[in-house]
Amino acid sequence: MTRVVLASGNAKKLAELRRILEPLVPGVEVLGLRDVEPYDEPAETEPTFEGNALIKARAAVAATGLPALADDSGLCVDALNGMPGVLSARWAGVAKDDAANNRLLLAQLADVPDERRTATFRCVMAFVRPDGTEIVQSGEMPGRILRDERGEGGFGYDPLFAADGYDVSTAELSREEKDAISHRGKALRAIAPRVAEALRRS
Ligand code: IMP
Repeated sequence: MTRVVLASGNAKKLAELRRILEPLVPGVEVLGLRDVEPYDEPAETEPTFEGNALIKARAAVAATGLPALADDSGLCVDALNGMPGVLSARWAGVAKDDAANNRLLLAQLADVPDERRTATFRCVMAFVRPDGTEIVQSGEMPGRILRDERGEGGFGYDPLFAADGYDVSTAELSREEKDAISHRGKALRAIAPRVAEALRRS
């Protein structure tokens, strides 16, 4: 069976990726970082999602010798000139504290009227093979920032984000509903056939 490492330490994100990828790439065994020998995860030092996704995938290949898939994602808020962007996970500090990030975002947008609360979740998936082959694919979910947190599902900024065409937050959607419209779902569904083809040739 072909094995591929998903280079994410975020358990909820890993579960989302597995759920979408496994049916799309038949016969693939998807390993998480907990399933491989521990290695020092690289710092995400690039200013772009693509740069950081590639850093993570290349490090996983170097450490495991297996093909690897990594994503980098974040929330780009128009009224904040596209921030938090690549800083989404640590917007309120290095602790990667979702509750603190959400509080800070709400405070920053307190005076921003509804029509200017537009935002987009962005995701770049990077697949790297041990022979150096690299494939990248992006996905987006446009929407708006709500005025208070809603829902218990999802993770990160989901309770504060309503996708275009929805009156509920992405934390109020079922997993399947979120996968169908999410930035990560779109990027993953677009890259999956290319990953399957690259795995067949390896
Ligand atoms: P990454 O793990 O470096 O890609 O950081 C992604 C960060 O962006 C997460 O910690 C969240 O703060 C935010 N984020 C990315 N995708 C989502 C999503 O689907 N829902 C909510 N927050 C997200």
